[in-house]
Amino acid sequence: MSHANQMCNEITMDIDNRAAGKSMAKDQGPEMRRDAGPLSKGHNGQVDGHSFRKALGRFPTGVTVVTSRNANGRNVGATISAFASVSLDPPLVLFCITHDSETLAAIQETGRCVINVLAEDQEPISTLFSAPKVDWSQAVLRDSENDYPQIEGCLAYLGATLHAVHTGGDHTIVVLLITDVIATDGRPLVHHRSAYSRLVDVGPQGEET
Ligand SMILES: Cc1cc2nc3c(=O)[nH]c(=O)nc-3n(C[C@H](O)[C@H](O)[C@H](O)COP(=O)(O)O)c2cc1C
Repeated sequence: MSHANQMCNEITMDIDNRAAGKSMAKDQGPEMRRDAGPLSKGHNGQVDGHSFRKALGRFPTGVTVVTSRNANGRNVGATISAFASVSLDPPLVLFCITHDSETLAAIQETGRCVINVLAEDQEPISTLFSAPKVDWSQAVLRDSENDYPQIEGCLAYLGATLHAVHTGGDHTIVVLLITDVIATDGRPLVHHRSAYSRLVDVGPQGEET
């Protein structure tokens, strides 16, 4: 049995047990429990960087590339997984980016960007846009009505204007107002435990709202 199938079966059993009202701790064998022991405490009231990254890596995310154009007309872009929805009305999202990012500088100059949500086959695009000086000749751009670069073949595009910026430690929290969207069918690229991954279905798919 492949690792993915085994994981899928474990998750399905988990869901079946909960539906039957069974206690997981009682009904699962020791091999299925993931008892991590006590939380490890950091020094000076904060956990160390390695433990922090390790724990956060257990939280899977999608992968986006945030693209913009600076005041000199040069395309810029960065791979970003720290992306989340903020508000429905008005429609706001946020992403977190290092203070010294040139993509951040361009968004602050021009007030606009596009969030390209990567599809499962776009790992090379994620790698390309995680380099400091992106070789844009390696990315196929799609024709778009607005001026901003959009990467061909993505799962969704969210056009945005800058709403607010906040400082969050060594990153800047960028809050964006979404002005236009495109969502296509397909599957997302997933990032989990410092590696790329794909989604596995574990049950009937819900109707999209
Ligand atoms: C999968 C993946 C996710 C990343 N997520 C983030 C992120 O959320 N925030 C961030 O600041 N950098 C993130 N990075 C690193 C940036 O992509 C990288 O620092 C990039 O060079 C920034 O581009 P810029 O400085 O040209 O704007 C990520 C890299 C990878 C491969």
